[in-house]
Amino acid sequence: MNAAIYPGSFDPMTLGHLDIIQRASKMFDELTVSVLDNKAKNALFSVEERVSILKEATKELPNVTVDSFNGLLIDYAKQKNVHISVRGLRAISDFEYELQTAQTNRMLSKGGLDTLFLTTSLEYAYLSSSSVKEIAAFNGDISQCVPDFVADLVYEKMKLRRN
Ligand code: PNS
Repeated sequence: MNAAIYPGSFDPMTLGHLDIIQRASKMFDELTVSVLDNKAKNALFSVEERVSILKEATKELPNVTVDSFNGLLIDYAKQKNVHISVRGLRAISDFEYELQTAQTNRMLSKGGLDTLFLTTSLEYAYLSSSSVKEIAAFNGDISQCVPDFVADLVYEKMKLRRN
C-alpha cells in the first residue's frame, strides 16, 4: 500500500492546504491528513474542530482520512507504518525550516521517514493560516483564502474572542 501523511497545524485549513491534499491524494493510495495536537500553541480552533473542518472539506476524497497526533511525527508515522510525509512549499522563506525539519526527521527515523515537497499552486502562494486569522480579526475578506463554511467558522470564533 502506497501511503503518506500530510501533517500540519491546519488552524484553520486554507485553500492552499486543500490544494495540496487534492494533489497528494492522486499520488497515493491512502493519504492521512493529521493535525498536530500542540497544547503549547495558542490555536484559534481546537484539534477536534480542525479535524472536523478537514473531514468536511475532504469528504469527496475517498482515499483521504483525517486524524490527529501528538509527539514526534516520526513516532506517529512509524505507528501507522507510513514512510512519506507530504509538505507544501510556498516560497523560499518556507524552504529553510522545511529542509531542516525533513533532514531531522530522516536522521531521527534512520531513513524511515522521507519528506515529499509539493510546490503550492501559484494562486495560493501568498496564503497562510496566520494571515487568514489576522485578516478575519479585523473583519477583512477571507473568501479567497478558505472554503465558505470555514470562513463562517473563523468569523464566528473571532466574534467570540471579541466578546
Ligand atoms: O502547519 P505547520 O505548523 O507548519 O506544521 C508543522 C508540523 C506539525 C508538520 C511540525 O511542527 C511537526 O511535525 N511537529 C511534530 C514534532 C516533530 O516531529 N518535529 C520534527 C522534529 S524537528
